[in-house]
Amino acid sequence: MARLKFSLATLFAVVVIFPLSAAHAKDQQMLALANASGCFICHKIAPDAASDELPLAPSYQEIALRYRGDKDAFSRLLDRVLHGTVYQDQVWEGEIGMRFMPPNVNVSREDASSLVHWILKLDIDPQMAKRLMHHDRMLTLSTVSGCTICHRMDPVNVSRVIPLAPSFREVAAHYQDRPGNKDRLLESILQGTQGNQKIWQNVNMLYMPPNVALKREDGVKLIEWILSLDTKGVPRQMEPPAGMGSSRQ
Ligand code: HEC
Ligand code: HEC
Repeated sequence: MARLKFSLATLFAVVVIFPLSAAHAKDQQMLALANASGCFICHKIAPDAASDELPLAPSYQEIALRYRGDKDAFSRLLDRVLHGTVYQDQVWEGEIGMRFMPPNVNVSREDASSLVHWILKLDIDPQMAKRLMHHDRMLTLSTVSGCTICHRMDPVNVSRVIPLAPSFREVAAHYQDRPGNKDRLLESILQGTQGNQKIWQNVNMLYMPPNVALKREDGVKLIEWILSLDTKGVPRQMEPPAGMGSSRQ
């Protein structure tokens, strides 16, 4: 009984703590991959309850539910994602607005496998779905704002490659608990970092140019989002030389 109580308490702690933290790193990675692979042109993470129009394609949550417990689903879906469903059965007929999924020719087999694995395991409550959708919106905002021309989500882990700019997760790890971080970063994004003391040593560009087309309120949203990213396992940037950080507070 004591044991049961203990595990219930642990379970409770896990259930309570997780919804408060940002979406898991794995979900964030997979969302970035799905986003970069163009899947979200047609798919959403969860059905949009507020809309009474037919969605273009089934949401990932509905796909996960439909194939739960189906052992053959993985290889079948992988095949459908890679080759499209043009000459195959139309399995979502009546529930969606498109007749078939075109072949995803720019997606490697490996990436498609990771995506299908992830989709099939999705088990998202409405809160989680909301967070994932927010994350997805922010990914899109960072793409249309041009940020992803230079920034990636995750640190590069191939030592030969020097990235153009720090990854957003590294930015989060460096600034998450620094006082004044939001103001500083907003200023960096809007005005660029030229003339600031150099913080990011291991990147290919000397400074970030001002993001002149970015609206201030979008900058605020992007910073909130970047600072909320999961930073587990992300190496912290080396502390810059003394005197750093004070010039822009
Ligand atoms: C141009 C629109 C479009 C794009 C882009 C797209 N899909 Fe689809 N997808 C669909 C449609 C439509 C269906 C439903 C097909 C049907 O009814 O048989 C579907 C179905 C699926 C299914 C379920 C298949 C089944 O048999 O039930 C999975 C899994 C899937 N898509 C994953 C992906 C992934 C991963 C990507 C990105 C690499 C992607 N889709 C990109 C339109 C799209
Ligand atoms: C042309 C390339 C480029 C673009 C586009 C770009 N950045 Fe940057 N960004 C950089 C570089 C390079 C750095 C590192 C700057 C340095 O070391 O001074 C940086 C640094 C940052 C930092 C950390 C700033 C600091 O003070 O430490 C944030 C946050 C950031 N970028 C967010 C964004 C966002 C959000 C966008 C899109 C609105 C964006 N960046 C667009 C190249 C870019």
